[in-house]
Amino acid sequence: MFDMEVFMISQTLRDARKYEEAMERTIEKEQKPDFHLCTRVGWMNDPNGFSYYKGEYHLFYQYHPYDSHWGPMHWGHAVSADLLHWRYLPAALAPDREYDRDGCFSGSAVILPDGRHLLLYTGVSREAQPDGSMRDVQTQCIAIGDGVDYEKYAANPVLTKDDLPEGSSKFDFRDPKMWQKPDGSYQCVVGNCTEDGDGQVLLFGSPNGIDWKYEKILVANRGRYGRMWECPDFFLLDGKAVLLTSPMDMLPHEFEYHNGNGTLCLIGSYDEETDTFVEEHNQAVDYGIDFYATQTILAPDGRRIMVAWMQNWDTCNLHTPAQPWLGQMTLPRELSVKNGRLYQKPVRELEAMQGEEVRHEKVTFTDVIRLSGVEGRKVDMELTVRPADGSDMYHKFAVRFAQNDTYQTSVSFRPHESVVKVDRKFSGSRRAIIHQRRCLVNHKDGTIKLRIILDKFSVETFVNDGEHVLTATMYTDLEAEGISFFADGEVTMDVVKYELI
Ligand code: FRU
Repeated sequence: MFDMEVFMISQTLRDARKYEEAMERTIEKEQKPDFHLCTRVGWMNDPNGFSYYKGEYHLFYQYHPYDSHWGPMHWGHAVSADLLHWRYLPAALAPDREYDRDGCFSGSAVILPDGRHLLLYTGVSREAQPDGSMRDVQTQCIAIGDGVDYEKYAANPVLTKDDLPEGSSKFDFRDPKMWQKPDGSYQCVVGNCTEDGDGQVLLFGSPNGIDWKYEKILVANRGRYGRMWECPDFFLLDGKAVLLTSPMDMLPHEFEYHNGNGTLCLIGSYDEETDTFVEEHNQAVDYGIDFYATQTILAPDGRRIMVAWMQNWDTCNLHTPAQPWLGQMTLPRELSVKNGRLYQKPVRELEAMQGEEVRHEKVTFTDVIRLSGVEGRKVDMELTVRPADGSDMYHKFAVRFAQNDTYQTSVSFRPHESVVKVDRKFSGSRRAIIHQRRCLVNHKDGTIKLRIILDKFSVETFVNDGEHVLTATMYTDLEAEGISFFADGEVTMDVVKYELI
């Protein structure tokens, strides 16, 4: 087994561990989400190393403990038995070697046959280029540990520019996501782009998780979805192959893709003999405002579960330095593929957190109503909305939450346009940033199902059993906990609501 005597934890990592332990106490628990993993202190971005090890889920994350803004990347670490209640462990990685001195970027984890936990991550180091400029060069590196302490591999980095196919960028070569194949060997996908910045996903193989070899370009963007592709993931699900990635700098395309850094899901077929992926369908993964950098795990019970960073790169650096923390993950979501589409639903573990049920059936109304027992900021609520019997199609339905006299955030549906919209314009934001996002949905004659999960500072809306999902953060005063319903026209609605405890 792993022998902790044989290596020393660096001073850089020791400092981070000391700092996070001391500073964590200065942040009020009430000011953090309840069941979404958020940073221990400082800053969090991408989920990393999502794995099931020694009887618990491990979730690491891109971490800058010293500031609530992005900085030299460490790996934060937390564990959970149910994917909802997380316990922090000491920071796992710090930028403390020549090859990762400018950051330990995103990566993944597998369990080795001898029981050790192997992390494969991107090391970043700024190097002088032949033209005199300084650029970040990215390589893939290994750390092996026991679930708490990780030792960086002596022969790091294990993949460098020399392993790249012709014409690929050594500056954008990051975010390895590994898996073990049925024959015991390993593969990983890594985000990359061509020298002129067009995204591609590279496939590498390894007999032991340590020695890696380039195999092929698994998917190339060819100018379609944004530019550099970050955080790829690849897996088989329900008889299909699924490629998830986070393209930077996207242009909007109708209601499917929005401006900025977004998420992309390609669904297709896969020939395992030749590692050939043939694309059949494409879609955004999430249609809200704050969602990026997905990572999945194959849970011991066979579920494919995804988490993502619940933020948006274009807006996440606008908060004041005084804000003690920034960054949380989405709710872990169970994935499935039906009719060429990715479906998501909150992990079933959430049901164990449901308090007393509040149910209102066949509520017919126009204009605004409130319902008894329906309020709060930690809520799991399913709404089924349809036109009232005998009345014309309604124009608009909306549910407003995190609401008081000053604030509200809403999710609305316009059946004539088939559009669901999340709107946080009145959430307390004082910045000229994106406050709304829209999505085209399916419905039959104005009937729609919306499952809405609130956890203090976020709203995740699962439309029609997870056919579309919209995720957004809202940093609204916790006192605003009203929920109300609005209809332009006459609707009939069923509500099943639980407080989450
Ligand atoms: C995605 C990303 C990754 C990178 C990490 C750095 O959000 O840019 O590509 O590894 O964040 O923190």
